[in-house]
Amino acid sequence: MRVLVSGGAGYIGSHTVVQLVAAGHEVVVVDSFANAKPSVVGRVEALTGQRLDVRSFDLTDHDKTEHLFAHDSIDAVIHFAGFKAVGESVAKPLEYYENNLGSTFSLVRAMRRHGVSRLVFSSSATVYGANAPVPMHEDLPTSATNPYGWTKVMQEQVLRDVAAADPTWRIALLRYFNPVGAHPSGTIGEDPSDIPNNLMPYLAQVAVGRRESLSVFGGDYPTPDGTGIRDYIHVEDLAAGHIAALNRLEAVSDPVSTWNLGTGHGTSVLELVAAFERACGHALPYRIVDRRPGDVAASYADPTRAHAELGWRATRTVDDMCADTWRWQSANPHGYPDA
Ligand code: WQD
Repeated sequence: MRVLVSGGAGYIGSHTVVQLVAAGHEVVVVDSFANAKPSVVGRVEALTGQRLDVRSFDLTDHDKTEHLFAHDSIDAVIHFAGFKAVGESVAKPLEYYENNLGSTFSLVRAMRRHGVSRLVFSSSATVYGANAPVPMHEDLPTSATNPYGWTKVMQEQVLRDVAAADPTWRIALLRYFNPVGAHPSGTIGEDPSDIPNNLMPYLAQVAVGRRESLSVFGGDYPTPDGTGIRDYIHVEDLAAGHIAALNRLEAVSDPVSTWNLGTGHGTSVLELVAAFERACGHALPYRIVDRRPGDVAASYADPTRAHAELGWRATRTVDDMCADTWRWQSANPHGYPDA
């Protein structure tokens, strides 16, 4: 199929593009490069062995979005593009609502006008809100504790209502748990533009000497070692889940399907630190500090629906995640080059 990948130069987007091309799909990437560097494109092309069709514009620009669909024959869309920093969303709520909702409105309007009705949407386990029981199942109610999370809750609702108005749509809502890791080549990976908010990239930067030490946010949670538990999923497994969902949309009868993409296993902060020490071969300095506001004690998936309906399962271990992250970070201590 000819697949438009919004945010295809981003972390999860770029890894998914590599797998889409390997699976024989034609890919068109749309990226504003607000959260990605152009040098990613060359890295992806080196991995796929072919030129990548990249259109550099912001999806909230509806004229440009409409023009693309009017002059190209897109079969399906994977929609990654969006702002995703929880803390930043609290400081800049309007920008988050305008960008994340606006890009989806613009994209779906152009899709509807041009008869493109296959959509895989990048959602997040953040839609389970603050007090969800674990393991989290797709039928749990959704809510949020920050504007970023609300944009995901609202985008899911917009897509459900679009499909209810026209049941010819086939939409996959993919709820990611904690994406980590990098392509095993070590040439593409996670490259936060500023101080990393998330644990794995911060840990990787400590390991490579860019950061002094890790602050462990809370050592008094009701968990075995007192630190937060999360369902870390390798970005390669996550990418494979998108391919499986895209294929599944050809066969499902429901206009909207919701699938958790997680391993179903929880790993604590200190367990991840230990795993990363095994990967990098040296001790990583950390100190336990106060809890981060808004964090929950434990979050991990019930992935049984994705196993049963997508024929997909996460296969990579936490040690794989750390080894691949370390290979990427040690080969690219400062991330992607600017040019
Ligand atoms: C993981 C664990 C922290 C950093 C976030 C978003 C979520 C999704 C994934 C987009 C927690 C601890 C972290 C650090 C630490 N993003 N930690 N020191 O918060 O589970 O999820 O990213 O969809 O929406 O909320 O991920 O990596 O920030 O935290 O101790 O420097 O690591 O307390 O227990 P989180 P995270």
